Amino acid sequence: MQHTTDFLVIGSGIAGLSFALKAARLGPVTLITKKARIDTATNLAQGGIAAVLSPEDSFAAHVEDTLRSGAGLCHEDVVRLVVENGPARVRELMALGVAFNRQEGAAGLDLAREGGHSARRIAHACDLTGRQIEEALLARVAAEPRITLLENHLAVDLLIGSRADAPPRDPAFADRCLGAYALDRRTGAIDTWQARVTVLCTGGAGKVYLYTTNPDIATGDGVAMAYRAGARVANLEFVQFHPTCLYHPKVRNFLISEAVRGEGARLIDQRGRPFMHKYDDRGELATRDAVARAIDAEMKASGDDCVYLDISHQPAGFVKSRFPNIYKTCLGLGIDITREPIPVVPAAHYLCGGVLTDTWGRASLEDLYALGETACTGLHGANRLASNSLLEAVVFADRAYERCAAEWPAISERELPPVTDWDPGPAARIEECVLITHTWDQIRRLMWNYVGIVRSVKRLSLVQRSLAPILSEVAEHYRSYLLTPDLIETRNIALVAELIVESARRRRESRGLHYLVDFPAADEGQRQDTVLVKP
Ligand code: SIN
Repeated sequence: MQHTTDFLVIGSGIAGLSFALKAARLGPVTLITKKARIDTATNLAQGGIAAVLSPEDSFAAHVEDTLRSGAGLCHEDVVRLVVENGPARVRELMALGVAFNRQEGAAGLDLAREGGHSARRIAHACDLTGRQIEEALLARVAAEPRITLLENHLAVDLLIGSRADAPPRDPAFADRCLGAYALDRRTGAIDTWQARVTVLCTGGAGKVYLYTTNPDIATGDGVAMAYRAGARVANLEFVQFHPTCLYHPKVRNFLISEAVRGEGARLIDQRGRPFMHKYDDRGELATRDAVARAIDAEMKASGDDCVYLDISHQPAGFVKSRFPNIYKTCLGLGIDITREPIPVVPAAHYLCGGVLTDTWGRASLEDLYALGETACTGLHGANRLASNSLLEAVVFADRAYERCAAEWPAISERELPPVTDWDPGPAARIEECVLITHTWDQIRRLMWNYVGIVRSVKRLSLVQRSLAPILSEVAEHYRSYLLTPDLIETRNIALVAELIVESARRRRESRGLHYLVDFPAADEGQRQDTVLVKP
């Protein structure tokens, strides 16, 4: 079935919702999301949103911290733009109903501290900041008649004039995004969504790795679709591993927020010995790349399965009220964090690279935008500073809206060309779903073992060889079988894994999150983005 809309927004996290709310001032918005509306990384975000909100802080300090964390690859103009827009965007969220923790004083907000920040600047709602934001924005979206939010709609591929599986062949549409094909999970049908503007807000790709803090939806869909359509993607070697994911057999992806370290928690080994001082002068509040590598080194040296994070020296009342979600979840698993240390391990958390955009959030194809974790705007460089991601999402959602508003008279009058429906060709129903689940599992294990926190030239070339037959198999499945959600996601995971490996192989130095044992230092000659485009 064919549908037409002014704005097609793909993804219901903070970026998609923020953009949709503003774009609805211009025209009808269709927001599709692949599962339930709250199945987003935003909803799980604990820490908060970084912005200069206190008179004791400054734009210069936030810019400096972001640049330092980004290890030479941040685009300074973008960092300034985001940092300087931060306070206004946080106030806007508050006006939309987001209840950040408040405190007496000039800032009015209770600001937290996290690794790499030289000041307290994280606005938060206890340790459930993302949920608070998600709920407030969803309530606003529900009240906006010009937004149609459709759950269970999984985008398959972008409609591009020159590359869609079908016409139009008019050169005027050659590099223009015309919308997307999307699978309606309830009916199994693949619908055509034609749009004047398409916005990718599909989150990250943590599920490319065996262990991740991300929700199940994080399968790199936006990056994969954009790359297949011919858009530029960048810096995919910079995968951020969060240092402290709960280590527990029953719960695999529960994050212990960096804010716990911000409130004084110490990292200790199994014998109770602190170790961060051996690796970094900033100790527990070093940037994430440094802390994750230190934990990795400790675990490799000791052979232990995890390290521990200890906040038990803080008053129990404070711990319970500041981290109610972490306290309750751990207690439910038999760990009383007010009395004992929490077992933790690093896990894949955030993709610093993504679809390359300009300072308006525009991708390299016309009428295509990418926002939030899906994008590579130049803010994060080689290592994202904690809590800069929600900030980036709201600043760029606003920028993208401003751009669309400025161009709206022209965009709204452009003709939408005819497009043809999805053609499944000779594809048949898959009888053995294990073919897909096995492939998915193989990729995630390979990526975890070979393209993790510490990499080597040998492992990167081994993984490239091991991935090759798996990628051919996925391509074969894609041609042979009618699309299912698992097949679509596995195809995306496979492509994003391949792109991460290719990007990592191109960078023969260590910088930020990309640590190569063979080249342990940064090389000034390689201080540039790794940009990939489909040949
Ligand atoms: C955390 O709470 O540690 C996560 C915040 C972030 O990823 O920025």
